[in-house]
Amino acid sequence: MGRIFSGIQPTGDLHLGNYLGAIRNWVKLQDQYKNLFCLVDLHALTTLPNPQDMTKWTREVAAAYIAAGIDSAKSIIFSQSAVPAHSELAWILSCLTPLGWLNRMTQFKEKAGKHREKANLGLYAYPVLMAADILIYRATHVPVGEDQKQHLELARDIAGAFNRQYGKDYFELPEPLILKTAARVMSLRDGTSKMSKSDPSDYSRLHFMDDPDTIALKIRKAKTDPDPITGTPQTMENRPEALNLLGIYAALSDITLEEACRIFEGASFSAFKKSLADQIISIMDPIRQEMLALLKDPGNLDRILQKGAEEANTLASQHLREIKEIIGFLRT
Ligand code: AMP
Ligand code: TRP
Repeated sequence: MGRIFSGIQPTGDLHLGNYLGAIRNWVKLQDQYKNLFCLVDLHALTTLPNPQDMTKWTREVAAAYIAAGIDSAKSIIFSQSAVPAHSELAWILSCLTPLGWLNRMTQFKEKAGKHREKANLGLYAYPVLMAADILIYRATHVPVGEDQKQHLELARDIAGAFNRQYGKDYFELPEPLILKTAARVMSLRDGTSKMSKSDPSDYSRLHFMDDPDTIALKIRKAKTDPDPITGTPQTMENRPEALNLLGIYAALSDITLEEACRIFEGASFSAFKKSLADQIISIMDPIRQEMLALLKDPGNLDRILQKGAEEANTLASQHLREIKEIIGFLRT
């Protein structure tokens, strides 16, 4: 049986991109693999959130995983900072990672922006820690949205570098699992930029915690164009906002984009938006209600994370022992 690792940074309210690009797929894969779903708080630290927010968002993202259907009896749910082996392996892997590889990372370039000299070392080393997250469990598959593809390729390169350096096939190269539909959910305000936590406009994204009225309003206000929907994605090629909304509908309904176009062929956007909002609400509102219930009992959430950390630590420390032996560190 393969092993899955994935994670999300607890840095703010999750959005529909996180759901369709990541969590929904984790839920679907849960029975076919052994799973570890992590709250990557060490990665979140690169943005230096204040301590109250770190705690709050960690519990909220844990609640979102569980409310969306991750079952702590089947999957290990835990905080990255609770398993020291991630950081230890990150150091080891950083010694095998040429700077040239890191200099190619587009996410660093985007996040550092114009002020590269001021960006912290953590942000630069971020993909090495991500490789360690995956490799410390010798995970075979990593379900993520498309934006993480480059980081995953780097993780494979680093795994290969370790294997070559020590002449051992210790790490299997982890495979990305990127689903076709909604691998990249776009902003509701601009169909050419990705739906993201960092977009200043709240109307650009749908949050897990948005109530039905807010969802309906954001969809009503979503950018579209004056033409009706045509029957195929090809005939709407230059209409990114239209394709994005149809893609969201398709992903939530478990149908293809082609099928969604056929269903709404000839429809106006006002009619389609009504169906889309209903569909989003029917899936996201039960998740929101469950999150609210879970967040009323933080002690229970903390116990779930504690149990997950114990299970993750058992796996990770065994692998770390093996890795240290391969490297030639003295066993104490
Ligand atoms: P982040 O919010 O950057 O920690 O992302 C967590 C997960 O959600 C990763 O697997 C991302 O690939 C995925 N994700 C984030 N934004 C989007 C988006 N707009 N469309 C699809 N997947 C996304
Ligand atoms: N970098 C990922 C993101 O921003 C989060 C992440 C950290 C991750 N470690 C990971 C995803 C390991 C998959 C596997 O979305």
